[in-house]
Amino acid sequence: MFYDQILEASNYIQSKVNRKPVIAIVLGSGLGAIVDSLENKEEISYASIPYFPCSNIEGHKDQLVFGNLKGKEIVCMQGRFHYYEGFTMRQLSFPIYVLRQLGVQDLIVTNACGGINESFQPGDLMIIEDYINLLGDNPLIGDNDERLGPRFPDMSQPYNLECIALAKEVAKQLSIPYQTGVYALFNGPCYETAAEIKAYKVLGADAVGMSTVPETIVANYLGMRVLGIACITNMATGISKVKHSHEKVVEVANQSSQQLCQWIQSMIENWK
Ligand code: HPA
Repeated sequence: MFYDQILEASNYIQSKVNRKPVIAIVLGSGLGAIVDSLENKEEISYASIPYFPCSNIEGHKDQLVFGNLKGKEIVCMQGRFHYYEGFTMRQLSFPIYVLRQLGVQDLIVTNACGGINESFQPGDLMIIEDYINLLGDNPLIGDNDERLGPRFPDMSQPYNLECIALAKEVAKQLSIPYQTGVYALFNGPCYETAAEIKAYKVLGADAVGMSTVPETIVANYLGMRVLGIACITNMATGISKVKHSHEKVVEVANQSSQQLCQWIQSMIENWK
């Protein structure tokens, strides 16, 4: 049973590391710098954890990294899972259930994405205020286990307002410029067509990417607070004439990574 798999995975992790993380951070492509600032690090590879998915995307390391940051117990997911890799929504969001079982209360999700809003520029960081799930699939489809969460979870505020307020306050203190907007989930793996981007713009999307929404849905379902920060690594198809490449995405994300890292560190220092 799904619930037993979650317990088995979390028991395994607890048998290897005696940590009680309260905040988890999902690191998007090229956005891993935060891991370098953790103290008392302990790592567990996904491959060793029962029922954990495993992938091989360039720019991802596929391990949980436990550590202390500004006096708080943190766990980072270095490597995340995507729908385009062939995982079901349930499989790819399995780690969130396990993190919750380990005691994690709040989730910070980061990603690299394409900018649709024409006032954005590559390198911008965007606080995600809401999402549009374009997939017609959902990680909560299937039997519901009431021990985990409700059958019909509310999604009127998927990104927590207190966390967003803290992110804005800290950005102001550190003079970190940021955008805000709506993130649309596209299945990939090909990038969008220009016509698709035009359509998503009409729907209200400011940015488009291939991750983050499944984790956001499951974390909300489990009663966690979620903060989402997207790095605009390129302008979406048709908004700019530049052709996409994953290498360029990772390069731009790497350039923004230090600033994102500084932002997240300071947020965690002031986390309530
Ligand atoms: N589209 C979808 N996913 C992405 C993009 C994009 O333009 N850039 C980075 N991830």
